[in-house]
Amino acid sequence: MVILGISCFYHDSAAAITRDGKVLAAAQEERFTRIRHDSSFPGNAIRYCLEAAGLELRDVELVVYYENSRKKLSRIVSTIMTHMPSSLDMLSGFLPEWWSGKYSAEDRIRKELRSQFGIKDDRCRIREVDHHLSHAASAFFPSPFDNAAILVVDG
Ligand SMILES: [Fe+2]
Repeated sequence: MVILGISCFYHDSAAAITRDGKVLAAAQEERFTRIRHDSSFPGNAIRYCLEAAGLELRDVELVVYYENSRKKLSRIVSTIMTHMPSSLDMLSGFLPEWWSGKYSAEDRIRKELRSQFGIKDDRCRIREVDHHLSHAASAFFPSPFDNAAILVVDG
């Protein structure tokens, strides 16, 4: 199975392509845009990965995003509510971002794939995974191990 992994909209956007669990190519968007910690959709990195892997986007069976948007939204709301009223400033910053669709990564990715690569919506399967599972996968897949226990320590 060919999977395109995407990280973006926060910091250090990147793309990677795997086939049957083996990494074929990976790149960070800042290498192409020359913008340090670029958080934009990694269109350049995706194009590079496809070319390096000798594939086209239509060969990709699944697009995986490194974060679960619903969980992230829930975490942000929970943090804001826990720290009321001192978190009112956070709330006023969060609401416009939420309203603009910032926390719906699947929609944003679908839109970018449509505009940058001409992919029709029905040809694009997107799945969001837990952030820390993504961290674990980034350690496991490039490793030489067939099995591993992984501890993720983040944030
Ligand atoms: Fe993280």
